[in-house]
Amino acid sequence: MPNYIIRPSPALQGEVQINTSKNAVLPIMAASLLCNTPVTLHDVPGLTDVDNMAQVLIACGAAVKREGRRMTIRAESLHQPLDAEAVHKLRASILILGPLCARLGDAEVPLPGGCAIGQRPIDIHLRGLHALGAVASQENCLASAHGRLRGNTIYLDFPSVGATENLMMAAALANGNTRIENAAKEPEIVDLADFLIRCGAKIMGAGTGTVIIEGVPTLQGTEYTPIPDRIEAGTLACAAAITEGSVFLSGARADHLRALLFKLREMGMIVQEDALGLRLRGRAKRGADVRTLSYPGFPTDLQAPMMTVCCKAAGQSIFLETIFENRYMHAVALCRMGADIRTEGRMAVVHGGRPLYGAAVEATDLRAGAALMLAGMAAEGETRLSDEGGHINRGYEQLDEKLRMLGAQIVTVSHPAPLTNAAR
Ligand code: EPZ
Repeated sequence: MPNYIIRPSPALQGEVQINTSKNAVLPIMAASLLCNTPVTLHDVPGLTDVDNMAQVLIACGAAVKREGRRMTIRAESLHQPLDAEAVHKLRASILILGPLCARLGDAEVPLPGGCAIGQRPIDIHLRGLHALGAVASQENCLASAHGRLRGNTIYLDFPSVGATENLMMAAALANGNTRIENAAKEPEIVDLADFLIRCGAKIMGAGTGTVIIEGVPTLQGTEYTPIPDRIEAGTLACAAAITEGSVFLSGARADHLRALLFKLREMGMIVQEDALGLRLRGRAKRGADVRTLSYPGFPTDLQAPMMTVCCKAAGQSIFLETIFENRYMHAVALCRMGADIRTEGRMAVVHGGRPLYGAAVEATDLRAGAALMLAGMAAEGETRLSDEGGHINRGYEQLDEKLRMLGAQIVTVSHPAPLTNAAR
């Protein structure tokens, strides 16, 4: 797995292209199981999670063909997933539960347990499927849903992104109308609905708190290009903010990043937006308070990169992580690098404006790994970031390469990278 040797980087300069969104592509791939005829997806990013989801679909009897950035998925005949290992290792596998139950009247999906950032329960998914007429349960690491689906009104105790996606997909082929209340509003929900509508689904209200689905007998495949990755764009925006860069993020959508852009402007960045992308100049001079919330609030996936920015910005920043119960592991590594961060449960207090120093640190999850890459770029001395779990490549396509293109001093090595004397 890759490891990274990161040295102090100059102000980032230049332009990078934003990929299509991991968190849009994964549910759309799962939704392809609903279609009787082939689906073609364009500009599919090269991510480990996408490769793993392809294996999950194949385990269910689908044919998945990848030609460069184009992916074709054929799901004419399906069965229960045969390769439990392929399904078990990908958290997003839960997203095939609804489609399989809708197509086959039966679904059994092996799932991973908790993960670094939290327990990741699926109770909201299961209660929603139960409301649609399925007998839905989880025994240890096996989620199951059996029964023909019929429309109903569902209330989500929490606007879960995955549960909203699963239930939208299940309801698309249910008999009758479904109303999902307190639904998640993320752009990836809207993108999934747009894809399903292109396949013949009848969905209204995606992106609002109430989604209405009129079930149809079948869905037909279509060609589709998912939305840009707002979290990749936000991560690169944080990289510019920490190195006082001048960076153009081609393809980034400002309307998907309002909360982050407001904060960066509040911190002193100059942010210009147009139809082609986002230009960021200057640096984050002063800290800001960050409370992660469901969309359109500040995204939890940008909490770690933003914490790195706040370590360098002057003054105090208070974080409140309201989405996941254990998403401050990057703070431990940042403190190793000299940051002054105190965490207490879901709250973290950052006293910024202090230098960061190179150290040997480890990526504990996808977004923490990215945050530590940014920290190494702004640190004195050399940082060795080990990513033996391959977390960063799960959700970022060549993040190291994109940052190098902008001037970052990052060397990628396959073996553990010993610290040079300079960094001891
Ligand atoms: C999606 O995860 C994203 N993943 C996550 O991105 C993102 O952080 C998250 O939404 C929140 O925006 C994908 O889209 C593949 P949730 P998901 O269901 O669907 C609790 C990344 O880095 N919950 O909205 O799993 C849950 O424990 C990843 O790209 C229940 O209690 O998120 C968590 O505390 C990380 N019961 C909160 O809700 C349930 O049945 C948010 O979870 C479901 C969720």
